[in-house]
Amino acid sequence: MSADFQGLRAVVTGAGSGIGLEVAQLLAAQGATVCGLDLNEGNFTGVGTYVACDVSQETSVAAAATEVAAAFGGGLDILINNAGIGAIGSVVEASPEDWEKVFAVNVFGTARVVRHLHPLLVKGTNPVIVNTCSVAAPIGLPKRAVYSASKGALESLTRAMAADFLDDNIRVNGVNPGTADTPWVQRLLAQTDDPAGERARLEARQPIGRLVSAPEVAHAISYLAHPKSLSTTGTILAVDGGMASLRLPR
Ligand SMILES: NC(=O)c1ccc[n+]([C@@H]2O[C@H](COP(=O)([O-])OP(=O)(O)OC[C@H]3O[C@@H](n4cnc5c(N)ncnc54)[C@H](O)[C@@H]3O)[C@@H](O)[C@H]2O)c1
Repeated sequence: MSADFQGLRAVVTGAGSGIGLEVAQLLAAQGATVCGLDLNEGNFTGVGTYVACDVSQETSVAAAATEVAAAFGGGLDILINNAGIGAIGSVVEASPEDWEKVFAVNVFGTARVVRHLHPLLVKGTNPVIVNTCSVAAPIGLPKRAVYSASKGALESLTRAMAADFLDDNIRVNGVNPGTADTPWVQRLLAQTDDPAGERARLEARQPIGRLVSAPEVAHAISYLAHPKSLSTTGTILAVDGGMASLRLPR
């Protein structure tokens, strides 16, 4: 493993599980010091400094920012906004609570974390933000109205922040994973009547014929966060097995 992130300070939200945990481990393995913000420590234990944080709550994020500043001596180089939740259903089926809960985490949560950590990022070395968006933003998926809208907003916010932060020298990028084999998807499959059949359907939906892996998404995030990727800002990198861009012959 290289030491490409040696000496860099990173915050990863949603670091207790799935993609966030994988990114945190990858950055730490390459020399970064990592603060993991999550509702639960999960499997982050031993990777870095765990900071309990609910990104949907203003006071919680403010307190977490204070902890991060203390842990990192007042500066931050890498912020990975990855915490996210989903909701199932069409716009007719979605409840007002679904809209509030999902946007509170996926959109407002990201904006809140950025706002509180921006003073640290401007003191960082080649600072960079990477947001975990979703293939649900660029393509229409059935029964994912609220989630898709939240990720579309996050994708737009990513570009808007990239423009706003040019003068701060903070790069802002995002990844759009396809369906990834994480505890999130494993939980969803377990709730169905036919988990194996549903998994096969999800695999077939992706042109590569399998689910995306969490390490593949982490690798893409680490590329965007890499200190050599200095000309890459305002980019949304697809890690979706071709789902958004390829059509298979029938
Ligand atoms: N798994 C997929 O198929 C897939 C596809 C595209 C995008 N994504 C996105 O990837 C990101 C990570 O998803 P995952 O599959 O690793 O899921 P996951 O459920 O395995 O991990 C998500 C983590 O976020 C944390 N979290 C949730 N709400 C939070 C809050 N309010 N404050 C702080 N932490 C919170 C959870 O505790 C959990 O540790 C999400 O933003 C998700 O939308 C996932």
